[in-house]
Amino acid sequence: MPSTPVSRLLDADVARITYGADYNPEQWSPEVWADDVRLMREAKVNLVAINIFGWAQLEPLPGQYDFERLDAVIELLHENGIAVDLGTGTASPPPWLTAMHPEALPMQADGTRRAFGGRQGFCPSSPVYRERSLALVEQVARRYGSHPAVKLWHVSNEIGCHNAHCFCDISAEAFRGWLRARYSTLDALNAAWGTAFWSQRYADWSHIQTPALTLATGNPGQAIDLRRFSSDELLGQYLAERDLIRTHSDVPVTTNFMVTAHIQALDYWRWAPEMDLVANDHYLDHRLPHPTNELSFAADATRGLGRGEPYLLMEQASSAVNWQPRNIAKGPGEMLRNTLTHVARGADGISFFQWRASVQGSERFHSAMLPHAGTGTQLWRDVVELGGILERLGEVAGTRVVADVALVFGWEPWWITDLDSHPTADVRYLDQVHRAYDALRASGLTVDVVAPGAPLDDYRLVVIPALHSVSDEVAGVVERFVENGGHAVVTFFSGITDGDDRVRTGGYPGAFRELLGVSTDEFFPLHAGESVALDDGSTATVWTERLHPMGAEVVSRFIDGPLPGGPAVTRHRFGAGVAWYLAANLDEGSLARTLNRASAEAGVSLTGVQAGSELEIVRRRGPQGEYLFAINHGGADARHDASGTELLEMAEIDGVLEIPAGAVRIVRLTPADAAPSASSDGSAAPDSLKVTS
Ligand code: GAL
Repeated sequence: MPSTPVSRLLDADVARITYGADYNPEQWSPEVWADDVRLMREAKVNLVAINIFGWAQLEPLPGQYDFERLDAVIELLHENGIAVDLGTGTASPPPWLTAMHPEALPMQADGTRRAFGGRQGFCPSSPVYRERSLALVEQVARRYGSHPAVKLWHVSNEIGCHNAHCFCDISAEAFRGWLRARYSTLDALNAAWGTAFWSQRYADWSHIQTPALTLATGNPGQAIDLRRFSSDELLGQYLAERDLIRTHSDVPVTTNFMVTAHIQALDYWRWAPEMDLVANDHYLDHRLPHPTNELSFAADATRGLGRGEPYLLMEQASSAVNWQPRNIAKGPGEMLRNTLTHVARGADGISFFQWRASVQGSERFHSAMLPHAGTGTQLWRDVVELGGILERLGEVAGTRVVADVALVFGWEPWWITDLDSHPTADVRYLDQVHRAYDALRASGLTVDVVAPGAPLDDYRLVVIPALHSVSDEVAGVVERFVENGGHAVVTFFSGITDGDDRVRTGGYPGAFRELLGVSTDEFFPLHAGESVALDDGSTATVWTERLHPMGAEVVSRFIDGPLPGGPAVTRHRFGAGVAWYLAANLDEGSLARTLNRASAEAGVSLTGVQAGSELEIVRRRGPQGEYLFAINHGGADARHDASGTELLEMAEIDGVLEIPAGAVRIVRLTPADAAPSASSDGSAAPDSLKVTS
């Protein structure tokens, strides 16, 4: 488990929020470096990540190492009191590696190789890459392992961002090795993959390939195992680098995750326990319907990976990125709101990609802390202001987020739910997770994101969106939770298959049938754009199913669509608790109302935030006190109950906190106010807020 508090990285005795960026001095001359550190100090930058893409400079030809420039950069930073997050430099091999060993280039599912010239251009199973990258790590770790400037190790970079899946012969051999370890016998593999179907039964290990492109749909079991294998294979590279670093250095080691909507390659629930601290990169994705909601979700999921420990936001953009179809610049106050949303939700370190905007290379139109136009800019003033704010917020560092509800999420479920040949292409896992999350957030509820099968005892309500493949063990955790008095909300397409993605027979939703007190005999997905009406005024799209109550009470029914009169939402008393089933894709408002009702019944205290107000309320709590973060994403001024000291304006607040449109306020609550507010039905629920552990 993550073991190094981010707040103690720079100084073991004083809790601080780290502030900085990726710094790429190899793109600049030493005269510019001097200017860089001067401005870093002005902005109160205290941690920079260097040597992320340094390999070609450090080892221009095989075995010829040159550390002169890196030595100078590290010394310069150190002299200026700026700590170093030192990259191992292995993210992108230099030209010579794949020129000399073309077999180390990655191969796509269509059998074509990708050329050198981008980044991460290597096969994750390549022995040459492994050997040469570890030779570099050995040099770097030996040279800088005990340098006082180095406070963190940064293995590679966004591992698996581009090259997670490779389909070359070397990868196929490694895949077979991984399968042998997983299944031991071919019989077990054949059973798990269901190879009785379409004449796919294997009689010899050597016949098994990676699931490259086929004419008809490929084998789903094989497809999922390739994803598991790819995640493990890259984790193997991380562990090899980490273990080598540890022979030379006591400094904590991590890598930057991509808990984000656009990348799903690695199963971070398996990775996180290997990190000394959890670090994440997050960029607003303007292809999504609600980019800032997704930021909050990603922040909560990142915190979940560290079991509630504060995390390090390793990269974000000060304004626009360069890799979306339209790269939207941040509006007034948006960078501050984004940043403080991360802090509210558990970040104790804030960094950007990158320090100084590049003038060459494919990222030259990506924003940076120091823009092309220089220091006479609003962006630079915002960056300097943020440095001051984060310094003042040092007292918050180390506290933990107070959460009310558990939301089950995982990367493996994401892979499985999104497989092809499902009843409809319109059920996308992340959409369903985001819809549930957004509905909870709109009610001011803070969510802990937990893995399928994680203990739920600390919660009153668990929400389980579209969890398609559910092992007996995972189902058992949810059943026991409800039996003992917990409340659960399960949404459609959950529980359908077992841990091997084999359909559970006898009625859907298989694994949760007893718990939910329902049984479905057929799915009735809707046409694109079709909407059905429910008898409580709701509407639904995408999904309906023919549901038979088997003990559950019917909360609402379809009026029209394929199943008029049939149940749409049910509620079942099970043991001492209650289990809800949402058998349709409810419109946003109805989903929020349903989750609100389930929360209130579960005894979760609501913050009083009105759905649609765009006010985000989160609390962090620790021995030093409790802090209320109020982030106003909307265009109208807002108010919230609070008493204490506001830390951005340094104002005393007595009962009512004003949060102007677009502003953020952070209140150190007076102890009496630190107790939870009344729940929406007016009844106090004093013990329902908790510090997650
Ligand atoms: C990340 C990456 C950085 C930079 C950034 C641009 O994926 O780690 O090196 O490319 O995105 O948004």
